[in-house]
Amino acid sequence: MNAEELRSKYIEFFKSKGHTQIQGKSLLPDNDPTVLFTTAGMHPLVPYLLGEEHPAGKRLVDYQKCIRTGDIDAVGDPSHLTLFEMLGNWSLGDYFKEGAIEMSFEFLTSPRWLGIPLEKIGVTVFEGEDGIARDEESAAIWKRLGIPENRISYRPRADNWWGPAGSTGPCGPDSEMFIDMGKEPCGPDCTPGCSCGKWLEIWNDVFMQYNKNAAGAYEPLARKCVDTGMGIERTTVILSGKKSVYETEIFAPIIRAVEEVSNYSYGMDPEKDRSVRIISDHTRSAVFILGDPKGISPSNVGAGYVLRRLIRRAVRHGRKLLHDGENLTQTGRFLLPIAEIVVDMMKGPYPELDENRAFIMAELDKEEAKFLETLHKGEKEFEKLLPNLLKDPRRLMSGRLAFKLYDTYGFPIELTGELAAENGMTVNRAEFDEAFRKHQELSRAGGNQVFKGGLVDQGEMAVKYHTATHLLHKALRIVLGDHVAQKGSNITAERMRFDFSHGAPMTAEELAKVEAIVNEQIRKDLPVSMEIMNLEDATASGAIALFGEKYEEKVKVYTMGDSRTGVFSKEVCGGPHVEHTGILGKFTIQKEQSSSAGVRRIRAVLG
Ligand code: ALA
Repeated sequence: MNAEELRSKYIEFFKSKGHTQIQGKSLLPDNDPTVLFTTAGMHPLVPYLLGEEHPAGKRLVDYQKCIRTGDIDAVGDPSHLTLFEMLGNWSLGDYFKEGAIEMSFEFLTSPRWLGIPLEKIGVTVFEGEDGIARDEESAAIWKRLGIPENRISYRPRADNWWGPAGSTGPCGPDSEMFIDMGKEPCGPDCTPGCSCGKWLEIWNDVFMQYNKNAAGAYEPLARKCVDTGMGIERTTVILSGKKSVYETEIFAPIIRAVEEVSNYSYGMDPEKDRSVRIISDHTRSAVFILGDPKGISPSNVGAGYVLRRLIRRAVRHGRKLLHDGENLTQTGRFLLPIAEIVVDMMKGPYPELDENRAFIMAELDKEEAKFLETLHKGEKEFEKLLPNLLKDPRRLMSGRLAFKLYDTYGFPIELTGELAAENGMTVNRAEFDEAFRKHQELSRAGGNQVFKGGLVDQGEMAVKYHTATHLLHKALRIVLGDHVAQKGSNITAERMRFDFSHGAPMTAEELAKVEAIVNEQIRKDLPVSMEIMNLEDATASGAIALFGEKYEEKVKVYTMGDSRTGVFSKEVCGGPHVEHTGILGKFTIQKEQSSSAGVRRIRAVLG
């Protein structure tokens, strides 16, 4: 069975169990300061897991593109990927452990569905910790269904708990499903969940029963939920009887494209094979990020920086393949033919890739050309430094020197590290980090810290800012005109940022007007109400929907104001919002500036 069949079987199975299919969302989450990318299928569903009503009902199923770059340095081995597709089913206060596990079991084992032999399956359950009980209930359900006791492994919170990484949000114990890869056990404790390579995790059922609040305490959720995630790439490895994702048809055509541009045959040299895998993975991820409806360009901060890093690492590894000179293209650039294959392969489930093909190719090509020039200069400088560096008996390159390469030539620290390693040296990373931190205040958004998963901020201030976003959006349309459309927003507990289309800087007078209009709506204490309707009816009723965003058939419409106060704003939105605008406090615009061509950015605070 291939990935496409798996995707459609999963959806079909859960539809047959009363689930409604919803659209996967953008890779770039809205209103979430804690993550740069959507890292799991549940990410866009956080408000619903916390109690909001979902317009599509209580049983949902979808497939979601996800990016996890926490272990970007591990990419290149046979299993790690930066982009993956997650299949998920959710119960929002409907079925819980029993229903979830029974459905997982049926989908995995029934010959009508995946037909995986029972003796290949092992599971883990939560062993209990911090006053939260051992999950005997899930273990008993697995046992009743036929999983032998010695393949049900109890594991601690570090393994069997899913939820926010150092952040707030819904969470709970989980039960993970593994496939026995047929290797010998690594020892007597080699039970499901062991990381020696014998057990491959393919699916996770999370039993969401708590909300971790800002104080770090676990509050029981009013409504227990289920969140599951099955990795398409890994499961395809099993279903196609392969040993690695790179051997499956998900990657084989991409690898063939790399072989073609490089004239290198995969399988000849382990080091070069690793480079082929890195190029394949990173190009695929870069294509998805660029092709997202909220497509971004490579830059030095935030998600743009991750994108830049992926492209640049692919380019650098391309040069490793092309080293001997022969098959260098005339320009030295090689990413585009690989990217074209990725778009062609994935445009079925992700039509946005085809729609944004021209943008993807133009941005990739530009970044590749720019980086080749940087590389050339940086490598020349490194070679000049090398004789001196080799004199150091500790083989330690100073972090300040590495920073200088970065600062003067734009030569990334990762590459300095790789060049150093190739010459038997290491870079003093702590020293580099210190220099980097001192030099760049901006690194708070662009450094390496922001990669870990986390969840939408549902704190009181974030919700207030979210409501203020709607007031600002409408006020801008009143003052500047109906061409104003929201292009993005970013909210923390301290401030909001709002990007919108407008061709010129705003005047002081315009800004004052916008601010006054928003504050007037706060003073009027408009009631905020929500209604679920068909998308068509919503737009026909005048509700603003975001262009380029994908919506379900049924959507939530938030209205600020009523017949008494007059309706001020009406937008299609997932919520949550405050109930009355009066509690927002004073709205102040701190800054208005350009964000990108034709897009302005406002930073504002409430207080
Ligand atoms: N959210 C869960 C995970 O990503 C299903 O593993």
